[in-house]
Amino acid sequence: MAVVREDQAMTRALRLARHGPAGPNPRVGCVVLDPDGLVIGEGWHEGAGTPHAEVVALAAAGPGARGGTVVVTLEPCAHHGRTGPCADALVAAGVRRVVYGCEDAHPVAAGGAVSLGSAGVDVAEVADPALQAAARALIERWTFALRHSRPFVTWKLATTLDGRSAARDGSSRWITGPLARADAHRLRSECDTVLVGTGTALADDPQLTVRDAAGQLAGRQPVRAVMGLRDVPASVRLLDSDALTVRLRTRDPAAALEELWVAGSRHVLLEGGPTLAASFVAAGLVDEVIAYVAPALLGAGAPAIADVGVHSIADARLYEIVDASVVGTDVRLHLRPRVETLAAEDSPELQALADA
Ligand SMILES: NC(=O)c1ccc[n+]([C@@H]2O[C@H](COP(=O)([O-])OP(=O)(O)OC[C@H]3O[C@@H](n4cnc5c(N)ncnc54)[C@H](OP(=O)(O)O)[C@@H]3O)[C@@H](O)[C@H]2O)c1
Repeated sequence: MAVVREDQAMTRALRLARHGPAGPNPRVGCVVLDPDGLVIGEGWHEGAGTPHAEVVALAAAGPGARGGTVVVTLEPCAHHGRTGPCADALVAAGVRRVVYGCEDAHPVAAGGAVSLGSAGVDVAEVADPALQAAARALIERWTFALRHSRPFVTWKLATTLDGRSAARDGSSRWITGPLARADAHRLRSECDTVLVGTGTALADDPQLTVRDAAGQLAGRQPVRAVMGLRDVPASVRLLDSDALTVRLRTRDPAAALEELWVAGSRHVLLEGGPTLAASFVAAGLVDEVIAYVAPALLGAGAPAIADVGVHSIADARLYEIVDASVVGTDVRLHLRPRVETLAAEDSPELQALADA
């Protein structure tokens, strides 16, 4: 076994954390090094009600953790939740040093670093800023949800080059190719809720489960949610036993998110049709967009999004591109709402030029 540096252990812990599910608790990964720097334990958090990553990794490490270093993606917790404080478990295990990736934003769980420090443990944030950023990015949607007391919303859509989400006859299978669809399944697997309107449930009869290319169901499935006032027949695939499904009998996006938040959802993937998408965008409740754009033209058919109350180009809803890539035969756009702090025309630089 080779000696592992703390930054290498953090990279490993970040990878381990991704095994955990989305949900009310953050994804966390942990690696335990013995006093010689050898990896003797690893673990990740499997979700609310199960042991935290540090506890899993310490159990795997056993007594060899005494005098060693624990490398964990998130500051250890200091509170009694459904499990005991990790800070106490680390002190009891006799570890000498704890290195964490980023601070815990949770108002109750935070404070583990201080409590470890007062118990004489050497505590530090990981030195490499890129690893700090990776640790924050791992849980950024969960952190956002916590700060806003509502789930983070990712709107996923498949559209043609001319912005159509379905053809004139209502058919939309398939706008995009198999690789884009596989990518969308990966996206589903990272969320805890997949949301559609009754319109999509009735028109497409989608299953909304996470499946591989062979159609095999993944072991862990997000909750499916159907929003709207109409009944959907018990025979629709959304109501099969492959995953849980909740009915949200409302047309109010904020009320729907409130209901999902209370049920423990922290990351919603909005996969509805143009009507639902418009209501969320109009309410300012889309935090991220993943658009698969197919190089195809329909010329007619449903738009990607219904009316969001924009009358003039100056009022367009603006997004910035986080990433653009080619996925198989399609283009994948990752967008975030643009935050306008200052109109460009009003910027001091432009004003100085105008005054010159
Ligand atoms: N290309 C894509 O990415 C994509 C994705 C999904 C769907 N589609 C296509 O979209 C079409 C279905 O479009 P759609 O717009 O009917 O689907 P939708 O947006 O999923 O559902 C619309 C329905 O949801 C209910 N609803 C929930 N919240 C609402 C709100 N805030 N405002 C108004 N209505 C609300 C309404 O029904 P109630 O009367 O029950 O309240 C409404 O008729 C299908 O052809 C499908 O193939 C395309």
